[in-house]
Amino acid sequence: MGKTILLGVAGGIAAFKSASVCSSLVKKGYDVQVLMTENATKFVQPLTFQALSRNPVLTDTFEEPNPAEIAHIAKADAADVFVIAPATANVIGKLANGIADDVLTTTALAVTCPLVIAPAMNVNMYQHPAVTENLQRLRQRGAIVLEPGTGLLACGWIGKGRLPEPEDIVAVVEAVLHRKTDLNGTRVLVTAGPTVEDLDPVRYLSNSSTGKMGYAIAQAAVQRGADVILVSGPTHLPPVHGVEMVRIRSTEDLLHAVQAHAPSCDVFISAAAPADFRPVQRLSHKWKKSDGVPVLELEPTPDVLATVAQSKHDGQVFVGFAAETKNAVDYGRRKLERKNLDMVVVNDVTEDGAGFGVDTNHVTILRKDGPDVALPLMSKSAVADELLDLVVEALRSKRNSHPEMEPHA
Ligand code: CTP
Repeated sequence: MGKTILLGVAGGIAAFKSASVCSSLVKKGYDVQVLMTENATKFVQPLTFQALSRNPVLTDTFEEPNPAEIAHIAKADAADVFVIAPATANVIGKLANGIADDVLTTTALAVTCPLVIAPAMNVNMYQHPAVTENLQRLRQRGAIVLEPGTGLLACGWIGKGRLPEPEDIVAVVEAVLHRKTDLNGTRVLVTAGPTVEDLDPVRYLSNSSTGKMGYAIAQAAVQRGADVILVSGPTHLPPVHGVEMVRIRSTEDLLHAVQAHAPSCDVFISAAAPADFRPVQRLSHKWKKSDGVPVLELEPTPDVLATVAQSKHDGQVFVGFAAETKNAVDYGRRKLERKNLDMVVVNDVTEDGAGFGVDTNHVTILRKDGPDVALPLMSKSAVADELLDLVVEALRSKRNSHPEMEPHA
């Protein structure tokens, strides 16, 4: 297997559970290197981790047993994943701000591998805006932050703040280690969110799309190694770490952004919900009630996906979405043909757990060259991964039938 895991242990009562994380990772055959803060050593002896990991434990940045190397940099360079469990409010604050004043936080700045953070603390500390903001910053930089468990806390409070169970931490670490890299070198263009058509400076036409599905696809594609451009309408979602973000407002803006990037992409996934109509005239001043009840004259906006799909070249895979309120699969199949697509992801937005605003989706993926794939209700990030599996399959079969085609990047 040959993978090296850095296990950072910070000074919280849950440090004892980290011994169990260490033990099961070692049993699975990983090389586990443990780093402890000085406060962590007040809860658990370094000897415990040394015995479990069969490796020396680093507790001091300046303790250098081997003059041929700098210990914490050598550990950082060798790491395939760095998991911090428990991560205290203090360590989270330092990581979010780039402070490096002990061996754990210094090494965290030196690693280039994925970072997994398992917070554990009192419920009020966990819910403090400072901790929430710090965790959000870390997520935006690409860290994987586990949800703490809820229950009786060591401080006597009942609430959220328990260290996730050791087997859950181990499962996340293994998932990160075995993450797919099958989109390495592939350029993926994703659109997400609604578009907005202004009526006057304060009023607009739009729809209920929140962008969650498109953002989940962008995130999953980056994690699989793709170079991702995410063209997003107005949403309340934080930017996705590692993608090139292009922000647009109207369907016309979306068209221009997509036309600029689609020709150089291998994959285009159109998850945006563009407004289909816009006012013929946009007023430059606010329409006053005293002006009377306005009568809106609307005109169609361009169909972005259908327009760019006209110039789709042989090696490209284009995916559309079809949000329907009835006969979803029928309408989806018509869109697949009419818009010259390789796949259409259909969902009935009237179903519970599917559609706008929720974190789950229930979709069927229709394919030009293959049977339909009906997925059960699952998280949007799981849908994104299933979709990307099919995209990879479609790309491969196109490249096999046209071996001269190479990814764009
Ligand atoms: N789409 C687009 N430009 C538009 C409308 C839709 O690119 N002006 C894309 C969406 O991103 C989606 C697909 O086309 O991938 C289907 O969108 P949908 O709104 O379901 O369908 P419409 O084409 O608008 O058709 P209808 O109104 O008949 O449902």
